[in-house]
Amino acid sequence: MVERCNVTQSGKASPAMVLGIETSCDETSAAVVTRDASGAGHIVSNVVLSQVAEHAPYGGVVPEIAARAHLIHLDGLVKQAMAEAGVGFDDMDAVAATAGPGLIGGVLTGLMTAKAIALATGKPLYAINHLEGHALTPGLTEGLRPPYLMLLVSGGHTQLVSINAVGDYTRLGTTIDDALGEAFDKTAKLLGLGYPGGPEVEKAAAAGNAGRFDFPVPMKGRPGCNFSFSGLKTAVRQAAVAANPLTEADVADICASFQRAVCAAVGDRVAHAMNEFCSLHREPAGSRVLVAAGGVAANKALRSALEEVCAANDFRLSVPPVALCTDNAAMIAWAGAEQMNLREGDDLSVQARARWPLDPEAAPQPFAGVKA
Ligand code: KG4
Ligand code: ZN
Repeated sequence: MVERCNVTQSGKASPAMVLGIETSCDETSAAVVTRDASGAGHIVSNVVLSQVAEHAPYGGVVPEIAARAHLIHLDGLVKQAMAEAGVGFDDMDAVAATAGPGLIGGVLTGLMTAKAIALATGKPLYAINHLEGHALTPGLTEGLRPPYLMLLVSGGHTQLVSINAVGDYTRLGTTIDDALGEAFDKTAKLLGLGYPGGPEVEKAAAAGNAGRFDFPVPMKGRPGCNFSFSGLKTAVRQAAVAANPLTEADVADICASFQRAVCAAVGDRVAHAMNEFCSLHREPAGSRVLVAAGGVAANKALRSALEEVCAANDFRLSVPPVALCTDNAAMIAWAGAEQMNLREGDDLSVQARARWPLDPEAAPQPFAGVKA
């Protein structure tokens, strides 16, 4: 048996109540989460303010607008999260905030707020990697303990990660260019659909013919687990230009064909990652789990593609509720509670980081930037 197979953590620890703060992209969020002595988590409050309406006119997240909105709303949201929980700062055992990766202005806003709270109250500060928040969410929602395989597909990230233990992650694959949510958003923008593009593309695809355009399935059959979506994006652009002026049926067919290519690409990459996961962890067939997180995990076509690849490889698919799949402070508070078991809090000099790979040994991807 491979050593890592045994690295399942019992999750037992002293009870803790943690205030969480999330500001890395376009959601401002504050939450109060508890962890009981058995290791089980409970969300006491989780307030999320989406900035979608503010970014919609630009067809994507504008970093300066996001940072300003976080600054305006965060204090009020912290107050609201504590009021909804019926607790005060004295009841907290720690404050946890996203310290990266993400849009640096937003990350700074949240981390500085958390530092101020920690300094004023004397509570320990935990600077949390946003990706770790997503990675540990199934522990909060269903008590799932590592090891498991995670597919994170959001507007900012597209990664396959082996969650070996709390604090021990192996990145098996990442995008080498665009994130999957970004590919959905760009496709929507090109076709004149609304923002965020993912749900719009999915809606249009429902009425479309997925066989009309033979879009490439990026990376299919290549070794490894990396993703690439820039070639598919170009193929979509060329099809849209060739069919111009676009009818409603053209838009629906392009969306359906794009979604088919995406599902085939993700299915192929996940199958490779399952193989790699099984060579790291000899989990018995009945206990292998694939967790899908991030906004794109809400896509129904993608979910059925994932169900298929899970069935073929004896994995169970677990998708946290959409509100906890997308960015939220409960997952950051929970990651803080889990970290409390492992280490002391961070020094107040801890820095915000635009780039912060979850797996420090993973190779950098120069064209994916913070997305890797
Ligand atoms: O995780 P998330 O809410 O925010 C971050 O990016 O961090 O993910 C947002 C992304 C957007 O790109 C959005 O278009 C995409 O998730 N998305 C979807 C769907 N719902 C949201 N993509 C495809 N199908 C959907 N149903
Ligand atoms: Zn996220």
